[in-house]
Amino acid sequence: MTESSETPEVSESQIAVHWREEEYYPPPEKFVAQANANDPAILERFSEDNFPDCFTEYADLLTWDKPWDTVLDTSAAPFWKWFVGGKLNACYNCVDRHAAANPDKTAVIWVPELEDDETLHISYGDLLRQVNEFAALLRDFAGLKAGDRVTLHMPMMPEAVVTMLACARLGVIHSQVFGGFSGNACGTRIADSGSRVLITMDGYYRAGSMGDHKVKADEAVAEAKRQGQDVDKVLVWRRKPGEYQSPTPMVDGRDFFVDEVIGKYAGQDVAPVSLDATDSLFLMYTSGTTGRPKGAQHSIGGYLSYVAGTSKYYQDIHPDDVYWCLADIGWITGHSYIVYGPLALGTTTVIYEGVPNYPDGGRPWRVAEKLGVNIFHTSPTSIRMLRKVAPDEPFKYNYHFKTMTTVGEPIEPEVWRWYYNVVGKGQAAITDTWWQTETGGFLGSTLPGLQPMKPGSCGPGALGIFPVIYDEDGNEVPKGSNKAGNICIRNPWPGIMQTVWGQPERFLDVYYRKYNTDPDSKDWHDWPYFCGDGALQSDDGYFRILGRIDDVINVAGHRLGTKELESAALTVPEVAEAAAVPVIDDIRGRMVEMYVSLKPGFEPGPEMESKVVAAIETEIGKIARPKNVWIVPDMPKTRSGKIMRRVIASVSNFADVGDVTTLANPEIVDGIRQHVQRAKVAKGDMPRELTETELAEIQAFGNE
Ligand code: WTA
Repeated sequence: MTESSETPEVSESQIAVHWREEEYYPPPEKFVAQANANDPAILERFSEDNFPDCFTEYADLLTWDKPWDTVLDTSAAPFWKWFVGGKLNACYNCVDRHAAANPDKTAVIWVPELEDDETLHISYGDLLRQVNEFAALLRDFAGLKAGDRVTLHMPMMPEAVVTMLACARLGVIHSQVFGGFSGNACGTRIADSGSRVLITMDGYYRAGSMGDHKVKADEAVAEAKRQGQDVDKVLVWRRKPGEYQSPTPMVDGRDFFVDEVIGKYAGQDVAPVSLDATDSLFLMYTSGTTGRPKGAQHSIGGYLSYVAGTSKYYQDIHPDDVYWCLADIGWITGHSYIVYGPLALGTTTVIYEGVPNYPDGGRPWRVAEKLGVNIFHTSPTSIRMLRKVAPDEPFKYNYHFKTMTTVGEPIEPEVWRWYYNVVGKGQAAITDTWWQTETGGFLGSTLPGLQPMKPGSCGPGALGIFPVIYDEDGNEVPKGSNKAGNICIRNPWPGIMQTVWGQPERFLDVYYRKYNTDPDSKDWHDWPYFCGDGALQSDDGYFRILGRIDDVINVAGHRLGTKELESAALTVPEVAEAAAVPVIDDIRGRMVEMYVSLKPGFEPGPEMESKVVAAIETEIGKIARPKNVWIVPDMPKTRSGKIMRRVIASVSNFADVGDVTTLANPEIVDGIRQHVQRAKVAKGDMPRELTETELAEIQAFGNE
């Protein structure tokens, strides 16, 4: 992490940050009385003295075919192995055992986006039947077996759950790609994971209209082929069996409608395959500093134990609850806290097809009232949006939440208070859960029945998680010092990914090398996990997460790598150079702005801007659509040729650009500033005044 001496910047993580301490909110008494964790003895059970055995309490929530011999094996540090010797099946744990005890109990409620369409209730017994039949199809029709990878590109439909669990039943490693990602993005992930089979859907409703999703499968297969991976079969679920909603033709011999093939497997049973705890359940791709996405590889035993345990104590899931998480099933939150955690505990999990404010900002509260939802889970972006469009709407509906979760981005204290007072009607405990794709489950949060909430802070480390903040040199940043640093986790935990799929060196480099002093050590104390987030800790031990310190822009809770955005822009033949920077946005947290310079002989103009937008949508997806594309004559650069993203990020956010005298071309900065800021003012796109932490982030953006 070095750059030449001509860039004497301070990294964001070293900037002193001051913020007003917020007041505590005690857990609501009614909640505490029924909470799964309301006896402080649990904190003792999960103290460092009891590590790693404390996590057997989580593993004991599962049914094991064979118990483990070793709780934590560190012999291949830092490739940790949990519950070694144990055998189990994730699908059995999420479906069969509940279907046996309680077949009529509702496992999944599916809420279609169109309000007049019928809500679907799927019992554990039905789910078991569907999973068995689809597993038979995967095994006998698609030829999949334990250890194979299969890519899923599925929207918020119960068929996504059936597909994931059918894979888990066979030990097939699923790799679910967020439905909003483009065909090309899906194809890259197919190629990286080596999937021969793609499972998708014809279409789904979003913001009131049915989009063509199948077309992305064709693009994905073509892109995978370009990258050397053949896909033999594309299995297409139809949103309405028998009715094809997509205008894109099916490819003969390659594409099959699931509803046409599955009849052959009706009534078949597939025994759940007994797998090693250390076998893999799924891959989840995420963005990082370099262009190629990383496939976080998650285990069966450790992961499932961790999400079951955290769902029980942090989401406070009891079997009789109706739990609704609005995250997308194609992200880690959907995997851990829509599917695996809640179903492992045998509760009812709600899946909603569309956008939260369709047809209006009262929709979530109508769904909650109608279904009796009592646990609600969403992102700060959705909360900000619902607050903006319908600030008083929750009061009109008669629902009662006992807990509410927020995840994915820092939440501003005033937004937090709206969530608490208006959505929660002052009666629900909020858990602000901080974690990552790589970590499987929560890292930081208050334990809702035992620890008071503090707006804007996620809380202390989760049970059995021991975070620490280091400065760039590896010195511990003391709590209460008002100094930010790099937050790390000192110890392993069962939910941590096993490795980066196919790239063990990258796993070491990105997450462990920074603060490891002895690469041969087999002692976990020597391997702090580097999270990539800036954070600070106050006197009470609560953490406040500032955001990514790598080249990642968090748009509405979606991690987008600047390198991925820039490579996408560079697919436009006229583009010579590209740089992506964040702009502060009151709803989505951050949005992307692109700066591009053109090759000689090409003229800037709206057409060129549209080409860049289209390229980003093709390569990544609509979620990455930049707010603006600025075509500039040249990029501000260091003398060694590095694009100074902090300078253009400051321009985009109307922040002071700082000292530019050390640049190779300081004279261009003023021209860029005038051009961009004038255009923004003309559009009425003036940001509010930035907070101190936002300013620090922007002015350090892209520093290494
Ligand atoms: C950010 C999502 C503040 C953080 C589960 C992290 C948060 C990245 C919070 C991971 C939170 C997540 N408060 N920031 N409660 N939760 N983040 O992999 O920067 O999509 O590193 O996992 O989101 O995003 P990912």
